[in-house]
Amino acid sequence: MTDIKNSALGADVPEASQATATVIPLAPKVGPSDEAPGIVPGTLARVLAIANQKGGVGKTTTAINLGTALAAIGERVLIVDLDPQGNASTGLGIDRRNRRYSTYDVLIGEAPLRSAILPTAVPRLDIAPSTLDLSGVELEIGQERDRAYRLRNAFAALNTNAAPGNAYTYVLVDCPPSLNLLTVNAMAAANAILVPLQCEFFALEGLSQLLKTVEQVRETLNPELTIHGIVLTMYDARNNLSGQVVADVREFMGRKVYDTIIPRNVRVSEAPSYGKPVLVYDLKCVGSEAYLRLATEVIQREKELRAG
Ligand SMILES: Nc1ncnc2c1ncn2[C@@H]1O[C@H](COP(=O)(O)OP(=O)(O)OP(=O)(O)O)[C@@H](O)[C@H]1O
Ligand SMILES: [Mg+2]
Repeated sequence: MTDIKNSALGADVPEASQATATVIPLAPKVGPSDEAPGIVPGTLARVLAIANQKGGVGKTTTAINLGTALAAIGERVLIVDLDPQGNASTGLGIDRRNRRYSTYDVLIGEAPLRSAILPTAVPRLDIAPSTLDLSGVELEIGQERDRAYRLRNAFAALNTNAAPGNAYTYVLVDCPPSLNLLTVNAMAAANAILVPLQCEFFALEGLSQLLKTVEQVRETLNPELTIHGIVLTMYDARNNLSGQVVADVREFMGRKVYDTIIPRNVRVSEAPSYGKPVLVYDLKCVGSEAYLRLATEVIQREKELRAG
């Protein structure tokens, strides 16, 4: 299994013992019919992994606020905090003392996902929080055969026995800034990836590595994985560079880029310190309006994906 050719994630991935935090860990080569846990159509929410190995590009902000916006327009949403930093949990006002079970317990098989889920102050929005323990998960399960499928397995029963109208329709997974086993678990469990890109110099740097990883996961772990879309974040209209980045990213990624652009907005950055999504903190600010537009676009794209 440590043979590079047998690695589930492509020929240019080093052996597990050499893997660094920014390199995908190896997973055993398995075919979808071989080990991928079965999915029962109709019982599962749409799972979107919010991923970019670059730090500070707006993954967590997008998880919190897209989740809130989707809930605000009637979807039933679960945010899964898969980052040991726990920013999504804190940003939604979840006190560390209340995180009795976390995504760490779920991934190591100590607790079912249901028992980790907590309600938030936003109706129809729940969260499975994380704790710092999560940073040790790779050491704990790194040698297990099903290590890349832990999250996918946990999702399989998510909507089982849910009362009518109570089943989750969207799950948003907030990934850490790394292409590690946590992100691979998210990609193996997701229907699609949503990529936040910050409107800054070097925005596209690292994107090809991310796309390559998605391709590798599709070939080895999750054949259905697609790119849902790319959302440009922290756009600053006063800065010429922001406009240039938008043009470059649209040229490079075409229709994959959502029409909605999230502006840089101080209300967006203030909200987490109050433990609130920006839509609760200041519904009328431009940041909230943008995330509501993004939610509408995500739902529209979902319809198109299902139809096509
Ligand atoms: N639209 C915005 N306007 C202003 N500030 C923003 C906006 N989006 C994000 N920020 C701020 O930028 C910082 C990074 O955002 P965020 O934590 O969402 O990124 P991330 O990709 O999740 O980071 P990490 O890689 O560390 O997990 C945060 O301080 C956040 O409040
Ligand atoms: Mg984050």
